[in-house]
Amino acid sequence: VIIMAPASLILLGATVILQVDLLPDKKFLLLPPVNFTIKAINLAQVLLRWEPNTDQEQRNVQLGYHVKINAPQEEDYETRNTESRRITILHKGFSASVQTVPWSDRSLQPSSWVSAELRAPPGSPGTSIVNLTCTTNTKANNYTHLRPYQVSLHCTWLVGKDAPEDTQYFLYYRYGSWTEECQEYSKDTLQRNIACWFPRTFINSKGRDLLAVYVNGSSEEAVIKPFDELFALHAIDRVNPPAKVTAEIEGTCLSIQWEKPVSAFPVHCFDYEVKIYNTRKGYFQTEKMTTNTFISVIDGISEYSIQVRAAVSSVCRAVGPPSEWSEPIYVGNDEQKPWTTWFLIAVMATICFILLIFSLICRRCHLWTKVFPPVPAPKSNIKEFFVTINYEKTGSNETETEVISYAEEAGSETLEDSVF
Ligand SMILES: *[C@@H]1O[C@H](CO)[C@@H](O)[C@H](O)[C@H]1NC(C)=O
Ligand SMILES: *[C@@H]1O[C@H](CO)[C@@H](O)[C@H](O)[C@H]1NC(C)=O
Ligand SMILES: *[C@@H]1O[C@H](CO)[C@@H](O)[C@H](O)[C@H]1NC(C)=O
Ligand SMILES: *[C@@H]1O[C@H](CO)[C@@H](O)[C@H](O)[C@H]1NC(C)=O
Repeated sequence: VIIMAPASLILLGATVILQVDLLPDKKFLLLPPVNFTIKAINLAQVLLRWEPNTDQEQRNVQLGYHVKINAPQEEDYETRNTESRRITILHKGFSASVQTVPWSDRSLQPSSWVSAELRAPPGSPGTSIVNLTCTTNTKANNYTHLRPYQVSLHCTWLVGKDAPEDTQYFLYYRYGSWTEECQEYSKDTLQRNIACWFPRTFINSKGRDLLAVYVNGSSEEAVIKPFDELFALHAIDRVNPPAKVTAEIEGTCLSIQWEKPVSAFPVHCFDYEVKIYNTRKGYFQTEKMTTNTFISVIDGISEYSIQVRAAVSSVCRAVGPPSEWSEPIYVGNDEQKPWTTWFLIAVMATICFILLIFSLICRRCHLWTKVFPPVPAPKSNIKEFFVTINYEKTGSNETETEVISYAEEAGSETLEDSVF
């Protein structure tokens, strides 16, 4: 017992010290926020809001909130505000949780979670639109100099497979704080809207906001389920092809020039691709570049078809699809070869004709003997040799046949020589 006493005292002392250390933390419990609500404030936009717990003991500790989005897509972030705006699709519903966390003193335990939910909008399954696709395009603005460019929006979709025949769909878009309803629909055979065209929108083609598109509907027979989708502008923008493409050939030098597409993006924001098609050799050559000029050395005896396309470079915005190819322009001359070929054929045909006439005349009046007197010495050319021999038997029918056949053969030889 005497030996144990000091040890117990030491233990007791340690416990007391531990308790002094732990006490403030154990007592200072963080309480979860109250009145957590989620509200749809706009198309594809929600406002999350909560209040600090009034029962929370006030200490000299800074508090913040940890927000966890559970649906439609998991996301996680911290904030010191008591509200938070999110851009998100809402047709599948939305749910989130929030807890109180110490902002700087990480040794404190976070509070428990509070959750809230925005239910998916009602509607019969299979009635909402499917395969929504949208594209934007920029045009020079004719009407006002305040906005030099106007952005159009075109969307198409398919009718839900279980949507009643009397279903009608309505499309809305939101960009930033601007929301507009479609005024120009295209319809299917049952007069149901299946596409929409906005010639002018509030979309800023250089902006980084997501474009929200929402399509709801009505029917006498069913509740039509709404649908919404978010689009990144760089992914749906149909960039215009380069403007004023020109090309010329000087000697063996092909030079191609063009201007930046009609676009709110400045000149330095474009990458280009040039496609040169050699119509004689039948092959394509494509070149990528960042300048507005392309110069190439060519063989000069072909026709070339030239097209250029553009894409907004990653310097200015996230990479999206390139523009369409510009209308092909043609330079060079491919007529030369067929023309010479036709000329040769004409010349040869004339020669043949002349020879034929000539031989016919010979047959009549034995002109042959006068024009080509006999050559006494034998020649290496066998045909000529035969002719010479045949000639000696002048007067017989045989000789005449031989002479004609020679003349024809000579003609065909000439032809063959000319062809090859
Ligand atoms: C929470 O909401 C209730 C009822 O809406 C209200 O009475 C209360 O004051 C709110 N609490 C806080 C901390 O704002
Ligand atoms: C619609 O989209 C689905 C998948 O998203 C695809 O399988 C289907 O082929 C598309 N239908 C049409 C007509 O494009
Ligand atoms: C301007 O408007 C006229 C007629 O309204 C049209 O022909 C022309 O193509 C427009 N120009 C541009 C650059 O949009
Ligand atoms: C579709 O949505 C718009 C905008 O939220 C709303 O004003 C309209 O009443 C809705 N139409 C139907 C048929 O639900």
